[in-house]
Amino acid sequence: MEVRKAVITAAGLGTRFLPATKALSKEMLPLVDRPLIQYALEECASSGIEQVIIIIRPEQGTIGEHCSPAPELERMLEDKGKTSELDAVRNVSSLADICYVHQAEQLGLGHAILMAKDAVGDEPFAVILPDDIIDGQVPALGQMKRIYDQYGGSVVAVEHIAEDKVSSYGVVDPQKIDDKVSRVLGLVEKPAPDKAPSDLCIVGRYIFTPQIFDMIEKTPRGAIGEIQITDAMQLLLQEQNMYAYAFDGKRHDTGTPLGMLKASVELGLKNAAFGDEFREYLAQLEL
Ligand code: G1P
Repeated sequence: MEVRKAVITAAGLGTRFLPATKALSKEMLPLVDRPLIQYALEECASSGIEQVIIIIRPEQGTIGEHCSPAPELERMLEDKGKTSELDAVRNVSSLADICYVHQAEQLGLGHAILMAKDAVGDEPFAVILPDDIIDGQVPALGQMKRIYDQYGGSVVAVEHIAEDKVSSYGVVDPQKIDDKVSRVLGLVEKPAPDKAPSDLCIVGRYIFTPQIFDMIEKTPRGAIGEIQITDAMQLLLQEQNMYAYAFDGKRHDTGTPLGMLKASVELGLKNAAFGDEFREYLAQLEL
């Protein structure tokens, strides 16, 4: 069955980005010219996703406001003849058919995904963690949908990570199938470097079969006292094949100030409107 739905998890506390995230959701932080949530929605739209389920905290109004039509603002822009600004505002609300689901308690990524169970129903679905921005020719989710169609099991995006950083990730025990695809033999969430089964680490894109929900329900709290999706995936592995896919594209971890700064520079340099001017500006800085 085709992957038609995507879950975007946006209910985290953004603790790595405090105090910027004290009153503003991490997903609303701007990267160059639009908030992170919009990059996730654009990736969904360009990957053929029809419905998006955004998991939010109950008090997180701004995400909904950003993604909905804004008739008053649109009318004002129209009256002033600001057509490109009007297009930019309208574009956001046309990216996806969106529904919102609350995660009232922050009990971990697995728990956040479980909140989407009723909205997803009995079909395969994608998950996007919006602080992992993947920049590339073909959207990462679109690439993963092809792998799902080819192999028919859950697919997780991975990349090679330096040994001293693997303990910040879920890590895969891979059995290589081809250059970019491995069968997953096991997974560990945030292992100590000497306990990591490989350097292939999970980044924030997944395609799951709906059986993952039963597995999350069976998953006890794991690393840092949270219900980890990686542990639920380990349970799913006992029943179904799962695949790790080394996507084409560059990932930026925008979940920290330094990661956001690096992503801003790299994507800023590529910006069609002001990339050249930004390059000149950087070049004349006395570094
Ligand atoms: C989460 C997952 C982890 C994955 C990472 C990718 O961790 O639990 O397996 O490697 O996202 O960004 P977090 O970054 O939320 O601690």
